[in-house]
Amino acid sequence: MALRCTLDRYLLLMAQEHLEFRLPEIKSLLSLFGGQFISSQETYGKSPFWILSLPSEDIARNLMKRTVCAKSIFELWGHGRSPEELYNSLKNYPLEKMVPFLHSDSTYKIKIHTFNKTLTQEEKVKRIDALEFLPFEGKVNLKKPQHIFSILEDYGLDPNCIPENPYNIYFGRWIADGQRELIESYSVKKRHFIGNTSMDAGLSFIMANHGKVKENDIVFDPFVGTGGLLIASAHFGAYVYGTDIDYNTVHGLGKASRKNQKWRGPDENIRANLRQYGLEKYYLDVLVSDASKPSWRKGTYFDAIITDPPYGIRESTRRTGSQKEIPRGIEKCPESHVPVSLSYHLSDMFFDLLNFAAETLVLGGRLVYWLPVYTPEYTEEMVPWHPCLKLISNCEQKLSSHTSRRLITMEKVKKFENRDQYSHLLSDHFLPYQGHNSFREKYFSGVTKRIIKEEKSNQE
Ligand SMILES: C[S@@+](CC[C@H](N)C(=O)[O-])C[C@H]1O[C@@H](n2cnc3c(N)ncnc32)[C@H](O)[C@@H]1O
Repeated sequence: MALRCTLDRYLLLMAQEHLEFRLPEIKSLLSLFGGQFISSQETYGKSPFWILSLPSEDIARNLMKRTVCAKSIFELWGHGRSPEELYNSLKNYPLEKMVPFLHSDSTYKIKIHTFNKTLTQEEKVKRIDALEFLPFEGKVNLKKPQHIFSILEDYGLDPNCIPENPYNIYFGRWIADGQRELIESYSVKKRHFIGNTSMDAGLSFIMANHGKVKENDIVFDPFVGTGGLLIASAHFGAYVYGTDIDYNTVHGLGKASRKNQKWRGPDENIRANLRQYGLEKYYLDVLVSDASKPSWRKGTYFDAIITDPPYGIRESTRRTGSQKEIPRGIEKCPESHVPVSLSYHLSDMFFDLLNFAAETLVLGGRLVYWLPVYTPEYTEEMVPWHPCLKLISNCEQKLSSHTSRRLITMEKVKKFENRDQYSHLLSDHFLPYQGHNSFREKYFSGVTKRIIKEEKSNQE
């Protein structure tokens, strides 16, 4: 017999940042905690107010322990397009669900949250007074209430066209806040060891969430750099491991990336970064290794691969190689056994990455990576494909007027077999992305020097 579970309605208050990344984050987290994204709304794309149906308050709490895209979650008691509609909806909310939070020996407070409009104190008080019909029996306590209720008013998204009355009004019991404070506490600005391409803290947490990273997982970053992505995964309790082709980066040597410092200090490395956040126990190791020549025995080792490969803008796309590998006749090359680096085409790099993920991820494990694209030429067909990996989400972050990077999330859905190794070469997706091998030239031709400068200083 199928089990039937009742779903309650919750209101998510989303942050108005990285809009495209929000839905995949919430969906990934809900599937991690045994929930499912169920919403009758169609406007959740840009709005900060999302109504969700969830099977339990525990799932709502778990979701908020992880999300950086949502600010808060409320048990939704009422919703309307006018105050009258809201009051009617509240009168229809089952009394037995309200009573545990309104009894006489409890304390409470009512807050007002408006989006795209500021209310005067007088207007706020009026709205609270209008809720007198609710059976509040407890005492008001503004400093440390047991229960917090909120009226949330939605005045739309257009700051140049703010309506007199809200489009939507919600009333709910506050349950929990999300993890927005991680963006500040893990900010790259305050981090011990950084590089020119250290990943922004907020995006690192979003990537770990898209990757459904959980406690005791093993997470790998083959282009680890300063380990920004490892930090986010370790924060969620995963053991982390990385490789990078650059000896200096892995060993924390060479020139510093901070303006007022010339050389990196003695303990500037990934391990020290994890230590800075109390996460050292999650450090497995980092090695100097070329992602184009993985040195792993056959096997499934990783629960997630979360990475930011080079695009050739502020770091080169190189792989190890010997001049012997350059066919004679094409270039005059003396015999040499000294490894040199060869250029690593973007398309090869991404197909190698997918192949590696298909081989080494556990079934159900996720690959999350950034794919740079030249927007005038971009089509969805360009996104690299692999028979063992299913595309879960594809979200854009603009880099300049003509370029963007897309956060691609894929899930391993099929065991890797030898014949899967080169199947991408037959795929329709292989050729279109090959055009992006000259992404660097396109990047610099599409933007003025001024824009490049602005972007660099924004990321510093
Ligand atoms: C965009 S950065 C990664 C930044 C990293 N997420 C961080 O937070 O610092 C890309 C890294 O890939 C490395 N890399 C380039 N080619 C590589 C290759 N063939 N194998 C492994 N690493 C490579 C570069 O040295 C660089 O550190």
